[in-house]
Amino acid sequence: MNILFCSGEAYPFSKTGGLADVAASLPKALNQIGHQVKIITPYYQSITNQNTETKYVGSSVIQMGDISQPVAFYQTNYQGVTYLFVKNDDFFYRPQLYGYDDDALRYTFFNFAILEYIKITKDYPDVLHANDWQTGLLPFFLDIRYRRLNAQFNRIRTILSIHNLEKQGSFPIETEKLFGHKNFTYIHMNRVNFLKCGIMRANIINTVSENYKNEILTRFFGFSLDGPLKSRQNDLYGILNGLDHDLYDPKTSKSLYENYGTDDFESSKKINKKLLITKLGLVFDLEKPMVAFINRFSRQKGIDILMSTLESYLKKDALTLIAIGSGDPLYELFFMEMQKKYPKQVYYHQGFDYDLSQKVYAASDLFLLPSLFEPCGLNQMIAMRYGALPIVRNTGGLKDTVRSYNQNSGIGTGFAFENYDAKELSETIDYALDMYHHDHETWNDLILQAMTVKHSIVKMARQYEELYLMISNN
Ligand code: GLC
Repeated sequence: MNILFCSGEAYPFSKTGGLADVAASLPKALNQIGHQVKIITPYYQSITNQNTETKYVGSSVIQMGDISQPVAFYQTNYQGVTYLFVKNDDFFYRPQLYGYDDDALRYTFFNFAILEYIKITKDYPDVLHANDWQTGLLPFFLDIRYRRLNAQFNRIRTILSIHNLEKQGSFPIETEKLFGHKNFTYIHMNRVNFLKCGIMRANIINTVSENYKNEILTRFFGFSLDGPLKSRQNDLYGILNGLDHDLYDPKTSKSLYENYGTDDFESSKKINKKLLITKLGLVFDLEKPMVAFINRFSRQKGIDILMSTLESYLKKDALTLIAIGSGDPLYELFFMEMQKKYPKQVYYHQGFDYDLSQKVYAASDLFLLPSLFEPCGLNQMIAMRYGALPIVRNTGGLKDTVRSYNQNSGIGTGFAFENYDAKELSETIDYALDMYHHDHETWNDLILQAMTVKHSIVKMARQYEELYLMISNN
């Protein structure tokens, strides 16, 4: 089948979160199983900065109410997949991807531009795959402006994947002037809501784990969209994200000081730990368990309960911590302060660094992700593969990917706690630290189980294929 995968970000060209990773791995895997998938995404400044070689494809003009704006399309090939870039420098040649006052206009433009690309190239997909709020208007624009153009347009089916329900693209009601057509499906609490529009109008909707799919139908996890989601419950699916094993493999990763597998992780992880702290110029105690926290710093990731727990361990000199990430300045400040106060135990790298993060996964004994909510989560999967045992809250995709250690069966790939509560988090950390120090055998056995968990992107792709076929046959 022909799929056009539409995303506000796509690794390695642009990234704020896990969506960018899935936008790269899912099309790649779908291509591997025989489909023709292209990714379409804005031509951000980061793409120019990376000196990406792109080829001109065509251009057009987008009409949005009284505003008309030129668009040009470029393409490149990365790992066998075609990436199409939507270029308009006024809108996208900026240091950040989102968070500007004119985001409503910029992403209205992006949604129209995707359909315009199809129109001018006649490269009709069978399925238009939208992701998150940035492309939530696609099914609506297709219906109001493009389906009637010809039979090929009219045949296109749509799917919306929800990776993040908290960010909805909610804008003042005046935004609708840009659409040239009024409709109630994009209205939510008297504002224009891009994600709700996609939820109401896509042929099918999915989110990135089965457990999270059920959670978002409840008030707490629904972020006020549980009503619209319930109204589409029969068309709502959960497909667990996979992990691209080509990108994350301790056996082959070029980032590691020493590669390893299930038979030599114990000695190799120690070497990775030792060299990492030497290279970073740190004076960490090697005997202490090393804990990693690698994330987008947002409330979602459970940093609030971590903030009320972590310092007690640092005071006791019970662990060392490497944190990598950026986001909410409040959280960045917290890790900066911890580093300043406990330089022998804490290292914080602001921002994201693929190479460093792999070194940290390989060096670490534990990985923290005590999320408030988590659609899927990819980092706990990487951690497991690199033999860093995850400590997670039993929510969303974390529940579907981490098996909390069960003393009776001996089965486990990490440690999980139930309630969003600092005390439960610290009890779980205590439990893990106790095992680290006193039950070497079980500890290594858990690492072995964690390293061999498979989260295949091919399995994920097969499940998406099923959804694509289902909507195409309807
Ligand atoms: C978002 C979610 C995360 C998910 C990722 C990819 O970043 O917060 O849980 O893994 O998207 O789907």
